Amino acid sequence: MAALDPSVVVAVVGAGAMGQGIAQVAAEAGHPVLLYDTRPGAAEAAVAAIAQALTSLVGKDKRTAAARDAAVGRLRAAGGLPDLAGAGLVVEAIVEDLDVKRRLFAELEGIVGDGTILATNTSSLSVTAIGAGIGRPERLAGLHFFNPAPLMALVEVVGGLASDAGVLDTLVDTAKAWGKSPVRCRSTPGFIVNRVARPFYAEGLRLLQEQAADPATIDAVMREAGGFRMGPFELMDLIGHDVNFAVTRSVHAAYFGDPRFQPSLIQQELVEAGRLGRKSGRGFYDHAAGAAKPAP
Ligand code: NAI
Repeated sequence: MAALDPSVVVAVVGAGAMGQGIAQVAAEAGHPVLLYDTRPGAAEAAVAAIAQALTSLVGKDKRTAAARDAAVGRLRAAGGLPDLAGAGLVVEAIVEDLDVKRRLFAELEGIVGDGTILATNTSSLSVTAIGAGIGRPERLAGLHFFNPAPLMALVEVVGGLASDAGVLDTLVDTAKAWGKSPVRCRSTPGFIVNRVARPFYAEGLRLLQEQAADPATIDAVMREAGGFRMGPFELMDLIGHDVNFAVTRSVHAAYFGDPRFQPSLIQQELVEAGRLGRKSGRGFYDHAAGAAKPAP
C-alpha cells in the first residue's frame, strides 16, 4: 500500500487549531485541500492564518516564497459538506463529542465516493465507536496529530475494531510522505500519548487544588528540573481547556470512572468561565498581552 498521491484532494472538517494545522501540512505536501467549518467565516479565516504562518516561515527551513504561494494556492474554504464530494481523504477535527462526530461521518458517507478514506483526529474517543455509526466502518481510522500539527512530528494512526489494514497502511505511508513520524496503535481510551499524559495534567491540577504551589512555579519546575518542553499548565493553556477537559472526561468514562483519571473541578470552572487558554486569551495565564503572564 502506498501513500496517497499528492493529486488526491484532502478535506479537513473543523477549521480550529488542529484543522488549520492539518490543512497546512497537507497543502505543503502538495495536496489540494478543502477546509470546512460550520462556524461562518472560520474556514476562510483559517486559510488566511495559514498564509500568514507560511509567510513568517519564508527563508526558514528552506521554505521559499514560491513554495508558500503554491501551498496557499492549493487551499480553499468549502461552502458546505457537499463540496467535499471529490475528496480522497477526509480528516475530521471538530468538537470532541462522539454523537457530533458520528453524525458528521454518517452525513459524509452519503457525499464522498466509495474509495474515500475517513479519518478522525479525535484525542480520546473510541475509533471503533465512531466507525460503528457508519455503513462502512472499515474505511475509517484515527489519524491523530499533535498541537501544533505543522511542528509536531508524531502522528498516531489508530485502528478501530473494523478498520481495514490497507487503510491503516495508506495512512501510515501518507503521514510519512507528509514528513511525519507515524506510530500505529489500537483504539484504547486516549491511545498512547493522551493516556500516558493524563497524570501529568491531573497531578499538576491536584497540586494546585492542594495549594502546594502556583501554576508558574509547577511549570518552571517541570521545565527546568523535569526536562519537559512545557509544564502541565502551559500545555493545558495551549491545548485549550475545553478540549483537554473533554478528553479527560472521555478517558475517565471509558475506564468506568477509574479515579486515576478523575476530571478536575478547577479545570471545569475554567471551562465554565470561558477561560479556555491561548485561544480565548486567558486560562491559567493571561495571553492577551502576547507574552504569557500568570492570570490574576
Ligand atoms: P477547536 O475548538 O479549536 O476547533 C474545532 C472546530 O470545529 C471549531 O472551529 C468548530 O466551529 C468546528 N466544528 C464543530 N462542530 C462542527 C461540525 N459538526 N462540522 C464542522 N465543523 C465543526 O478544537 P481543536 O483543538 O482543533 O480540536 C479538534 C479535534 O482535534 C478534537 O477532536 C480534539 O480532541 C482533537 N485534538 C486536539 C488537540 C489540541 O491540542 N487542541 C490535539 C490533538 C487532537
